[in-house]
Amino acid sequence: MSDTAKLQIGDKSYEFPLVRGTENEVAINIKTLRTVTNGVITIDPGFKNTGSCESAVTFLDGEKGVLRYRGYSIEELAEKADFLEVAYALIFGDLPTKEQLDKFHTDIKSKSVVDDDIKKIVDAFPKTAHPMGVLSSLTSALTAFNPTSVNVESTEDMYNSVVKIMGKFPVLVAWTMRKKQGLPLNYGSKSLGYVENVLKMMFEQPNEDYVVNPIIKNALDKLLILHGDHEQNCSTSTVRIVGSSHAGLFASLSAGISALWGPLHGGANQAVLEMLEAIKADGGDTKKYMAKAKDKNDPFRLMGFGHRVYKNFDPRAKIIKAAADDVLNDLGVNDPILDIARGLEQEALNDPYFVERKLYPNVDFYSGIIYRAMGIPVEMFTVMFALGRLPGWIAQWKEMRLGKEPIGRPRQIYIGENERPFVEIENR
Ligand code: SDX
Repeated sequence: MSDTAKLQIGDKSYEFPLVRGTENEVAINIKTLRTVTNGVITIDPGFKNTGSCESAVTFLDGEKGVLRYRGYSIEELAEKADFLEVAYALIFGDLPTKEQLDKFHTDIKSKSVVDDDIKKIVDAFPKTAHPMGVLSSLTSALTAFNPTSVNVESTEDMYNSVVKIMGKFPVLVAWTMRKKQGLPLNYGSKSLGYVENVLKMMFEQPNEDYVVNPIIKNALDKLLILHGDHEQNCSTSTVRIVGSSHAGLFASLSAGISALWGPLHGGANQAVLEMLEAIKADGGDTKKYMAKAKDKNDPFRLMGFGHRVYKNFDPRAKIIKAAADDVLNDLGVNDPILDIARGLEQEALNDPYFVERKLYPNVDFYSGIIYRAMGIPVEMFTVMFALGRLPGWIAQWKEMRLGKEPIGRPRQIYIGENERPFVEIENR
């Protein structure tokens, strides 16, 4: 393959350099396009064919169903690592030594208290508030109590911001859930591991000691790892573009949480459970819902199916599906919803509509079944996605700022009115 791409516009031809990544992905570098063509731009709704950046954080191959964080395969990480190790690798580039991991955890614990005035903000929300709206607000509110923005040129300042948000975010996650449940806002214990502490903060009852169930701890570890990062998805692109204006890390993360909330993105895990519950309430008639999903006149989509990049099985869905069996068996939970999900999957995998469009189960299809078995309320599912995605968002924000990337500001093709004179109101 030559190192350039040729473009012909009218009787003029142009050449643009090709960019090749370490996994042999190829892009056309068009950063001079508008200048050399005197104003011609590209347009690509949803950026289906457009790269926003070069990144070393995550590699995924949608056709082959491959996903690696910093070169480590998601299968090995899910099997052999814990969430904090993976968070460290995503943010700092390599899996940590034991000393590095211990220091990372110690430093996180030292920054895991949030200003008590945050409780006043939590109290101000109605119990009916959706947890993703609460979490996004509380994350943004952190800027009020931590006003100095990150000096990314300072390794120490960047590190301190990382451990600060890694320490405070799980507290906000737990308080978001406990607010809805009318439970006191608590802290965990520095004696516990990162994920154990999340569970204690979420589930501890005020009148009894909380004992971590290792099955639940291992399941949550795995789920958080599987949600760790996913290259330039909608919410990560949001974190990067908000951060490109040099808005602070916490403000950028708050924007990412709002993007993740959408049912086409992270909100799908909640939508999947609601869909499966509706099918169950409707007598388990999966065929009716398959027909709705294929009906162009029906806005219903098979939630948890399809993906912008994966045109094969989402490797995370495979791991989560296997884990769902184990976790429910280990917990002695018999959830008929799991059978409905399996039935729906089998029907879709054999249906021409889904096969032709390469629509396979994605990360959200089975994750909610495990969350529910763990006792997590359905409205908290996307909050758990955000907890897992936090290190990925941090890693991508850090890469963007250290890479001194320009402010994100796409162009457009105007299709509105041509120039016209102002008309006085009495003459309109
Ligand atoms: C996540 O990007 C990431 O990496 C995201 C994520 C991450 O880790 O960050 O992986 C997490 O967001 C996973 C996706 C969760 N969302 C859902 O499960 C919602 C249901 N899925 C769809 O809405 C859809 O598949 C998307 C949004 C995920 C992807 O949409 P695209 O790439 O824009 O594809 P499209 O909407 O253009 O669909 C192509 C065709 C269309 O039919 P035609 O017009 O060609 O006839 O497939 C159809 C769509 O109607 N289609 C579906 C479908 N998904 C796509 N039809 C029925 N049910 C579906 N779920």
